[in-house]
Amino acid sequence: MDFVETKRRSNFTRKIVLAAGITAVFVFLFKRSPAPITSTKFSEHEPGVTHVLVTGGAGFIGSHAVLRLLKDSYRVTIVDNLSRGNMGAVKILQGLYPEPGRLQFIYADLGDAQAVNKIFSENAFDAVMHFAAVAYVGESTAEPLRYYHNITSNTLLIVEAMAAHNVKTLIYSSTCATYGEPDKMPITEETPQVPINPYGKAKKMSEDIIRDFSKTSNMGVMILRYFNVIGSDPEGRLGEAPRPELREQGRISGACFDAARGIIPGLKIRGTDYKTSDGTCVRDYIDVTDLIDAHVKALAHASPGKVGIYNVGTGKGSSVKEFVEACKKATGVNIKVDFLSRRPGDYAEVYSDPSKINNELNWTAKYTNLEESLSIAWRWQREHINGYNG
Ligand SMILES: NC(=O)c1ccc[n+]([C@@H]2O[C@H](COP(=O)([O-])OP(=O)(O)OC[C@H]3O[C@@H](n4cnc5c(N)ncnc54)[C@H](O)[C@@H]3O)[C@@H](O)[C@H]2O)c1
Repeated sequence: MDFVETKRRSNFTRKIVLAAGITAVFVFLFKRSPAPITSTKFSEHEPGVTHVLVTGGAGFIGSHAVLRLLKDSYRVTIVDNLSRGNMGAVKILQGLYPEPGRLQFIYADLGDAQAVNKIFSENAFDAVMHFAAVAYVGESTAEPLRYYHNITSNTLLIVEAMAAHNVKTLIYSSTCATYGEPDKMPITEETPQVPINPYGKAKKMSEDIIRDFSKTSNMGVMILRYFNVIGSDPEGRLGEAPRPELREQGRISGACFDAARGIIPGLKIRGTDYKTSDGTCVRDYIDVTDLIDAHVKALAHASPGKVGIYNVGTGKGSSVKEFVEACKKATGVNIKVDFLSRRPGDYAEVYSDPSKINNELNWTAKYTNLEESLSIAWRWQREHINGYNG
């Protein structure tokens, strides 16, 4: 009797162990298998619809690009890690274009190769506009490795993912900082690229990667070298809203507006002994609306196996002093100005020759009046004291 009872118990125990083992194997296999991919409008190519991945689409220039692309009936995916961009801008864009299949936002860091590959596997992109980058000259001299990583290494990852997933068109955000300080003005696309700070060098390296790769591939590439970008959406839906902690790094337009709003006591002009007409740096200020128009034209003209390289500027230089005068008029505030010594990494005079883009892409800057561009931007700034937070 004892023997039979013991045998029955051990059979029962064996069955329990077996059932637990089978369950564990199923749980293990289920956990390892990838999540089922749900098909969405973003995951399939659709005839007649161009799906553009906009990296850095929560940032200043990227958000304006998304607005224009959506207006022109493109399908858009934004990828951004919000390190410098604003979810508020994305929300405005989502509010304007809520229909399914128009706009999706993916939170991801472009330095994460696994995440980037997952994004490319799950979405059917026709083109990439690669805006995402850290983009301050001064910061790049203090943190060079961050710049090479964020700009050069991340661009390599993007191009690899595009190649692996057969994405056919790339529009790359480059900069006049890749030219350094040329002897001759204006700068043409043939001007030698001799960058003098890590920001410009990292962008030039990215361009080199893209150009070398394009020799071996059928990708259509447009490299746009922007000059100094100002302005904002003329309809007042978007603006430039860098993080408060980046104010010190910031660009001149942001500093002017901060001074006009009393957030900072005044403006610091760094360098009055440059070899320019009034001693302050000369720059070519391009309005963001015109800049984005150049991107849309570049996208339309990109052709397989070709690389187009274009300066995007007005062709006219303005000094920092002239800029400040325009800003005073646009804001109606008599901004206090302090003159300081030069900032490391800055160059004296930079303005473009935009004739190549005029001739080949039929693009011309329309917003060439500094005061007008600054007035448009100021309207948004005045109504958004805390950026996208109100
Ligand atoms: N603003 C200018 O005057 C100017 C001039 C020449 C070139 N550019 C280039 O234009 C592009 C956009 O500049 P911007 O002024 O709009 O800058 P921005 O800082 O407003 O936007 C950059 C966006 O990229 C995102 N980003 C940065 N690193 C990322 C990462 N690792 N992963 C995902 N997202 C990331 C940020 O969160 C931000 O939303 C940059 O490539 C910049 O180098 C700008």
